[in-house]
Amino acid sequence: MFFIGLDIGTSGVRGILVDQAGTFVAEADAPLDSLHPYAGWSEQDPEGWITACDQVLRGLRAANAPAFEAVKGIGLSGHMHGATLVGEDGKALRPCIMWNDTRSAPQAAALDANPVMRAASANIVFPGFTAPKLAWVAEHEPEVFSKVAKVLLPKDYVRLWLTGEYISDMSDSAGTSWLDVGARAWSDAALDASGMRRDQMPDLVEGSAAGGMLRETLAKDWGLSGAVVVAGSAADNAAAACGIGCLNEGAGFVSLGTSGVLLAARDGFAPAPETAVHTFCHAVPDRWYQMGVILSATDSLNWLARSTGEQPAALANALPDRIDGPSSTLFLPYLSGERTPHNDATIRGAFLGLDIATDRAALTRAVMEGVGFALRDSHAALAQTGADLKTVFAVGGGARSKFWLETLATLLGLPLSVPAAGELGAAMGAARLAICAATGAAPDEVITPPAVASVIDPRRDLMAAYDAAYARYRAAYPAISSIPSS
Ligand code: XUL
Repeated sequence: MFFIGLDIGTSGVRGILVDQAGTFVAEADAPLDSLHPYAGWSEQDPEGWITACDQVLRGLRAANAPAFEAVKGIGLSGHMHGATLVGEDGKALRPCIMWNDTRSAPQAAALDANPVMRAASANIVFPGFTAPKLAWVAEHEPEVFSKVAKVLLPKDYVRLWLTGEYISDMSDSAGTSWLDVGARAWSDAALDASGMRRDQMPDLVEGSAAGGMLRETLAKDWGLSGAVVVAGSAADNAAAACGIGCLNEGAGFVSLGTSGVLLAARDGFAPAPETAVHTFCHAVPDRWYQMGVILSATDSLNWLARSTGEQPAALANALPDRIDGPSSTLFLPYLSGERTPHNDATIRGAFLGLDIATDRAALTRAVMEGVGFALRDSHAALAQTGADLKTVFAVGGGARSKFWLETLATLLGLPLSVPAAGELGAAMGAARLAICAATGAAPDEVITPPAVASVIDPRRDLMAAYDAAYARYRAAYPAISSIPSS
């Protein structure tokens, strides 16, 4: 038996094929475009996901036809919060409004001001979440709003194509603001408060349970024999946690991707919306996770690379492996606003303390430190929920920089484990959920941590200096946010 994990990411779809032990067999990728017609808008054409997934599945078949033909389960992972509005005919009514689209900031603030929303959903209603996007559509595109038969998250639109069913899982639905995250059920109170109806929501299953069967026409078209289960599946962060075996209290990861995430698995439900930490259902029953999200992690380095005409890797490689004390230049990575801890869609980034001697390497260093400070903010916020991280894996493109990892370990005061090379991301998490859903295997047996290649320890000798630099960073946000925007 073989299984597929499909991760619908912001910039592309990644598919992997694994065997029953979860061992990687083959991979295929396809790019995805985003549309940014106005400042703050970020949309994707849902049909683009289908085309890319079809291309990836055909790519997996081309890579290993015998394994592909023996596939018994497919797991999905997708970028969270995207509002994919579907009419009675199951077709998308408009492009998906994505997680990084900030147009609905006023609607989010209005919904968040209603105490019902935080009480039910365990989270601030962030502008990136799904509910305020529907409020924006109701206000600005009433014709579209009146035709909404179902609201689907991106991976669940792909599931609709695969299975013909309207189903979502707990981890992804937790990011809509309509789920009672403690009870793992739609909240009628939250739906009522945002002008939505229960029948517009898909049915709910756990991520490790079955969430539909592959349609026969597709199975035939791809040359698959026998029944193929589609797992309940997961939001990308929950899937990434499954990929790296982060299921139980004390386990966590820090991800230096486009956005930055510090995630802690939780055995219980401990909401603390006032901290701007996200409290979401995990992809397996009776487990939750909490995370701080910063909106521009490697995106900050990418921005610097674009602005200096360099490649991000070249900027990172110009720095030494070891740190030697914080920079005197301070960078605030709020290029797209910030979630944890500020919940501020309008704040923008800044360099402070630029000197005539500040060169490209000094700017790179400041950018990496700024992202580190922002993740320390998330760590402090997580600590307020009672999360106590013990084992933290470092993942994402930015984790290739030893300088960045040592900066981060020192700022967080936590050793960071670098996993041994291999497939560990959201696509692997999705494939593991497919194994659970199709074979009935226990999640704790399938979703295990990888081997550790190295551990990056905090630099105890430099911690006081980095603490002082963090104090300057903390002082900078209130100062720059008090300057009227132009
Ligand atoms: C989480 C979030 C992002 C997206 C990115 O709340 O918005 O991590 O899921 O893919």
